[in-house]
Amino acid sequence: MNNHAIGVFDSGVGGITVVKEMMRQLPHETIYYFGDTKRLPYGPRTTEEVKQFTLEVIQFLLQFPLKAIVIACNTATAAALNDVRELVSIPVLGVIEPGARAAIKGTINGEVGIIGTIGTMKSGAYERTLRRIHPEIITHSLACPSFVPLVEDGLRHSSYADELVAETLQPLQGLGMDTLILGCTHYPLLASSIQKAMGERVKLISSAEETASELSTILQYRRMLATKHQKHRFFTTGEVEQFSKLAGDWLGLNIATEQVTLSYANKS
Ligand code: DGL
Repeated sequence: MNNHAIGVFDSGVGGITVVKEMMRQLPHETIYYFGDTKRLPYGPRTTEEVKQFTLEVIQFLLQFPLKAIVIACNTATAAALNDVRELVSIPVLGVIEPGARAAIKGTINGEVGIIGTIGTMKSGAYERTLRRIHPEIITHSLACPSFVPLVEDGLRHSSYADELVAETLQPLQGLGMDTLILGCTHYPLLASSIQKAMGERVKLISSAEETASELSTILQYRRMLATKHQKHRFFTTGEVEQFSKLAGDWLGLNIATEQVTLSYANKS
């Protein structure tokens, strides 16, 4: 038994999609969430920059006695998962391996689409992971840099979102995929627009469920499950009101967000 918190990190509000699943599957766990909204989006940044930002956020979270860390950001997982694992001795989970596993379970025809940020797509991390599990898999990849701002600006329910999503996903139309990986944790917040654009035939895969389930297995195996959750905490480098609203809406909770200034976070 271990009642310490689990640190969860994303560039913004996207990782809340993973938190929601963690709260559902692991209701006794305490979550300390960090959204680096001021420096968002991470997607177009260089690998080195994303690595540096990730390590800074992890250093902040490590002031608390954590029992595990979830990098709930595909871009940061692709850039820095191994570096974070080298830094700490607690379990560190990313979202790419669980997302790839969920897609392999979900596809029937072995043809999978992947959408994500420029950084994630450039890294080729999904393709590599999918092929390691299933060498014959066919993939179609597309970077969708306009999706994260839609979510962070609170526009996900607008007809503009539907139009922009449909237009962006045009290059994937008419291909044979039966499964589409939402390879950015912000994208499940746009799932209804994405589903409309791709049609009901295409199954949307988010990493959230599989990541929470992997975490649950690890905590059980190590006998580290908590018995009762303490107060969850939410930190952002950006606007607290906007963050609380977006995250609270998705979680169906009233949340209070704490603003954090990372001394090194001033460069945008
Ligand atoms: N949510 C992040 C991800 O999963 C990316 C958002 C960003 O570009 O900052 O990749």
